[in-house]
Amino acid sequence: MSRNTLIKIASLILMVVSFIAYIAGASAFPIASENLLPWSVWFLIAVIVNIVLWTSVMRLLTFSLAVIWFYAFVAGLVPESSTAVNLTELDWSDPDAVAEQGALVFNGKGQCSACHTVDTSAPPGRCPDLTDIGVNAATRVPGMDAKAYLIESMYQPANFLVPGYGKIMPEVWKAPINLSKLEIEAVIAYLQSQGGEIDPTPFDEPIDRADVGATAEALPPLLTGDPELGKKVFVDAACISCHAVTGIESPAAGETTSEDFEVVTAPDLSEIAAFNDMRYLEESILVPGAQIVSGYGAVTVRAKGTTFQGTLVSQDEEKIVVRTKTADGVEEEHTILFSEFDDEPIEELTDLEAKGYFTLTLTPADADAPVSGQLISETDETVTLKVGEENRTFSKTDVKSLMTVVTFDDDEIVGEYVSGTIEDEIVLIVDGSEEIYDGLDLNETTVTRASGKRLLVTSPMPENFPILLSVADLTNLLSFLSTLTGATAEAVEAVTEETGETPTE
Ligand code: HEC
Ligand code: HEC
Repeated sequence: MSRNTLIKIASLILMVVSFIAYIAGASAFPIASENLLPWSVWFLIAVIVNIVLWTSVMRLLTFSLAVIWFYAFVAGLVPESSTAVNLTELDWSDPDAVAEQGALVFNGKGQCSACHTVDTSAPPGRCPDLTDIGVNAATRVPGMDAKAYLIESMYQPANFLVPGYGKIMPEVWKAPINLSKLEIEAVIAYLQSQGGEIDPTPFDEPIDRADVGATAEALPPLLTGDPELGKKVFVDAACISCHAVTGIESPAAGETTSEDFEVVTAPDLSEIAAFNDMRYLEESILVPGAQIVSGYGAVTVRAKGTTFQGTLVSQDEEKIVVRTKTADGVEEEHTILFSEFDDEPIEELTDLEAKGYFTLTLTPADADAPVSGQLISETDETVTLKVGEENRTFSKTDVKSLMTVVTFDDDEIVGEYVSGTIEDEIVLIVDGSEEIYDGLDLNETTVTRASGKRLLVTSPMPENFPILLSVADLTNLLSFLSTLTGATAEAVEAVTEETGETPTE
């Protein structure tokens, strides 16, 4: 056989093999994980080589195969959202079949696979891997079972952010994704099938679909700002010294800005507008503490006699992990059990929840011993604690106070406060007997109404931007932020254009 014939046969084999591999959906060659040179491209190369090599009859054959391939290729390009079956009912007698329908939604219309992987070997990304979400879902929020958590993840993903991840998951029942209730049910079955049991119990949607129109109308009018000027504000106001944005250079290390804040690790904003609306962006700048991105909050916690000050890395029902930095810049992670938190004295029984208290110890006026419990709720006048198994409500005014008095001789006496002021005389019960102290003998008095353990998470982002930025700056800045949609949004937009739906946000 001549060399020419060998080459011809080899190229024919390549064409047939790549054609079959492509139709069968074999993974890419030579480097499967990177999806380099998919079989469609190998086939295209083979077709061209064959057309060049073979004479007329073979050219015709090659050309017909190429036409078939072309149709298959084009069909493959059409996203599943438009080819996917419309779910009209779910057959719960076969939960696995429902989960399979859910998988179609997950990889198609739901856009979930644009962000999430279901493959532990995938590199960690900006969105959590969902392998074993069927079991993990039950561990996320104390007191919330797996199904309830998954329902919340679909309808109100911002209610609980997986520690370490930002608020980028869209509300998938809203435009542009627009999943129906049936589609969401199927997706939840699919998620539960990842390591867990499918729970077919029906549920009510925690949202009102009719409300979406109303919220859309209430949104502020389209921004009139100039994104280019906004980009300048982003750099000048030193947002860039904490936040990275693809395409903008951050100041070189050591080159400090004129602003008087400490540069901290902050979320990358390159995709911030992909799924966050203008309201959220505005709120992030005006009230940074309103919603704190998980993994970025600042905390100060007193436990085991030490004060830990740093970043709240993660938290579950038993413990927190705090990252601190020593003076010479070494980072350390500390795991602290809630039971190890120290009791801190509380002088005023106001805004306890806002101050981060979760456990309270107080002595009701008609009791001898203090009562401790988990803080359940509070009003201006009362506070409700979970004491043992029952919830008990206490009046804030009927709580015994402890007073510490310090005399000019530096004697410190702690007792239960009965009456009096430092201007006159003070009556305390110390060790069971009533003692009277002349105000003239006292240097200092402090009152504690209760004590408590607390976890207060605050945003490390400066709060003074509303004062620093003019209205025009803020408008321009918001217009600029709204251009930061990254690659994820482009994928969704492409689908939206094809299905002819317009996003309302
Ligand atoms: C734009 C990216 C994006 C899209 C699209 C998206 N998600 Fe998410 N998702 C996230 C991010 C980021 C988080 C973590 C933050 C949070 O909890 O909201 C998350 C969290 C979750 C969680 C909680 C995970 C856990 O470990 O507790 C579930 C479940 C979930 N997504 C399912 C879905 C499903 C199902 C879809 C499609 C219908 C979807 N997501 C679409 C970004 C996305
Ligand atoms: C000192 C560092 C720092 C500076 C300066 C700063 N930020 Fe932030 N920012 C943070 C941190 C930390 C967070 C995450 C904690 C939180 O959610 O509040 C954050 C959160 C945000 C978020 C929400 C991000 C998300 O993923 O949801 C936006 C939007 C934002 N910042 C915009 C800005 C803009 C605009 C500026 C300039 C006007 C700015 N920031 C200046 C530290 C900073």
